Amino acid sequence: MGLRCKDIVSIRDLGKEEIQLVLELAKDYVDVAKGHKNSDNLKGTILSALFIEPSTRTRLSFESAINRLGGKYLDISGPEGSSLVKGESLADTIRMAACYSDIIVLRHPQEGAARMASLFSEKPVINAGDGAGQHPTQTLLDLFTIQEACGSIEGKEIVLMGDLKYGRTVHSLSFALALFGAKVSFLAPPELQMPEEVVDHLGDIGVKPRVFTKIDDIIPEADILYVTRIQKERFPDENEYLRVAESYQITLETLTNAKKDMKILHPLPRNLEIHPDVDSTDHALYFKQAFNGVPVRMALLKLLSEVEK
Ligand code: CP
Repeated sequence: MGLRCKDIVSIRDLGKEEIQLVLELAKDYVDVAKGHKNSDNLKGTILSALFIEPSTRTRLSFESAINRLGGKYLDISGPEGSSLVKGESLADTIRMAACYSDIIVLRHPQEGAARMASLFSEKPVINAGDGAGQHPTQTLLDLFTIQEACGSIEGKEIVLMGDLKYGRTVHSLSFALALFGAKVSFLAPPELQMPEEVVDHLGDIGVKPRVFTKIDDIIPEADILYVTRIQKERFPDENEYLRVAESYQITLETLTNAKKDMKILHPLPRNLEIHPDVDSTDHALYFKQAFNGVPVRMALLKLLSEVEK
């Protein structure tokens, strides 16, 4: 079985079996991602990476993935690095990327930009984050990391914490976790709880997450605590941001009642929401999680390179 879909705009573009296919292939690429093994599995494939909004992990891990598999990488960083700054439309920019490459990766500040881009490209488009919308490849690497840490996802208590309103990673992840049979809980200040639309999508597959506002009420049960940054750049009103800024932080003290093998994930970048003291504990898995972006994106690129659009 290959990938049925040609564009990865939302995690819901992939079925459970297709996600499993990506995660299985990713295991084979871990040694290649570490540089311990060579592969030319993507020789002859050219990837266009259009990062109209800043990125460190997503951009570098896609670049590392294609380079280590023998492919080539074309990139645009920020609108000022392209003719977008001269008023060219995103549609025409995408048409050009499709002329010059085989797969397009797009990060854009506007929700819906990747879906729109996919309509103008005969080449596969991967959404690398669209505003407060979705971030499906982050979800794939999150699932890979949870499977690696817990052995399986089904039945695990996974707490999504922080800015659930504007955090696109948790919008994609909550749906995938539900698909894999995890017990999902939301932990956030009332102002930052999950948008209704995401809750409705979960309801469509019969899942109703528990909702918490205080960490002490759920931390003893958690197998995974998935922490997110407050997405300052997405708040329409600075006062709204100031009301919730610094409203939560994971410290050594917060973790006193956590299970010994509970793991903390974070898509990164972080600000103050995880104290650096936590980094050296066995709970901290976020840097390993960031590494996992390379083998997972390798697997996705390899499977997409086999799809005819
Ligand atoms: N996790 C993530 O998307 O990080 P970047 O914004 O650095 O790509």
